[in-house]
Amino acid sequence: MIKRYVVVPVSMLMLLSFVASVSAQGFGRLDPAAREERRRLTRADHQGMMKLLDITALRPGRNGMNPDADNYANYDEAKANPYPDLPDPLMTKSRQKVTTEEMWWKLRRPEIVEVYDREIYGRVPRDMPRVTWEVTSAAQKTDGDVAVTTKQLVGHVDNSAHPAITVDIQVTLTTPVEAKGPVPVIMEFGFGGRFRRPPRPGAGPSWRQQVLARGWGHASIVPNSIQADNGAGLNKGIIGLMNKGQSRKPDDWGALRAWAWGASRALDYFETDPAVDATKVAVEGHSRYGKATLVAMAYDQRFANAYVSSSGAGGASIWRRDWGEIVENVAGSGEYHWMAGNFLKYAGPLGWDDLPTDAHELVALCAPRPVFISGGSVNGDAWVDAKGMFLAAAGAGPVYTLLGKKDMGTTEFPAIETSLMDGEVAFRQHSGGHTPGPNWPHFLDFTARYFQ
Ligand code: GCU
Repeated sequence: MIKRYVVVPVSMLMLLSFVASVSAQGFGRLDPAAREERRRLTRADHQGMMKLLDITALRPGRNGMNPDADNYANYDEAKANPYPDLPDPLMTKSRQKVTTEEMWWKLRRPEIVEVYDREIYGRVPRDMPRVTWEVTSAAQKTDGDVAVTTKQLVGHVDNSAHPAITVDIQVTLTTPVEAKGPVPVIMEFGFGGRFRRPPRPGAGPSWRQQVLARGWGHASIVPNSIQADNGAGLNKGIIGLMNKGQSRKPDDWGALRAWAWGASRALDYFETDPAVDATKVAVEGHSRYGKATLVAMAYDQRFANAYVSSSGAGGASIWRRDWGEIVENVAGSGEYHWMAGNFLKYAGPLGWDDLPTDAHELVALCAPRPVFISGGSVNGDAWVDAKGMFLAAAGAGPVYTLLGKKDMGTTEFPAIETSLMDGEVAFRQHSGGHTPGPNWPHFLDFTARYFQ
């Protein structure tokens, strides 16, 4: 009974994510030969990285689709915690307990950032080129009953060091015409307008309309305009530009860090636009873009808030848990491009417990700023491990309290649809599937405490 309950939705999720990744990677636009070529280049790049790291074989990931497969994902809580002890976010490498805010900022936080740079998401190169923002169009229209101005923006990345690669970051910014002054903005990592589904009849206001109803603006950034969502693209995009078309070194950045870097450049633009209150910009993203959202929020302290939706493995879910997607999936050729090359080691010679960090420390890098961690029901969103994401939010609690803020107030996984949002680190599991939709009103209530 229970098995079937989980099985059907998980395969639906996989199907949905496949569709999402098809759109995200533009597979739909490729003919079969080009698609095969992309796979070949991806595999070659993945193997090149393994070789650089002296890895001969990686452990395979889990199968989320076929319950009869030997490597079917685990959905049994009794088997989900092979390594229950997480690294202590308040213990330095030299085993000093962090007891003051100063120790956090000067000692411990930089240590955690260094681990994420070197082992998990990779380093942003030191001398990043200038990005020049251009407003390519501005138009007025109405959304629902709100008059808005929508600007199309392009961030031209200076490519004089390697003109063969062009990077133009695409952003759309929409603000209410009637605003009395600069407004807060919620920026999403979007799939781009081409993939936006028309609203279902009776579906209620879109997230954009909900944001406008608060008097705020919204923006959307196109991740693929910064970095492609596949391994074959690593010698192009912003990562390829910085490497002059060559392959990555093991601690070079992956796509998640690159997408987050692009979001920071959009924030640079917002700081210059009188329509935007750049001290109140939140980021939002779902699934792989939920991961990018958490990375952007963790690294750039100018982001005031974040809605991290169904981010799962590589986002807010605990790596040490065996539930749904695992380290080995993310290290495989379909997803490794999100990460630093060094991350592959943890699916090869090393194991999950060798990771010098876990996702609760990534959430802790957001402190003391508010962050909202979200996932769907096991019936439809099991792959992302809502409980693992809850544990990361709980595990960041001690850092929030050290910095004078409120944690979630519990370390017990709550019943579905319980809003844990009295503190600055918030969690809510909704009863929908793999979607940010149902938690938008809750995230906006949470945000209103800080943006109103
Ligand atoms: C796959 C992948 C997830 C990712 C998702 C998506 O399911 O395993 O890690 O979040 O795709 O982005 O759609």
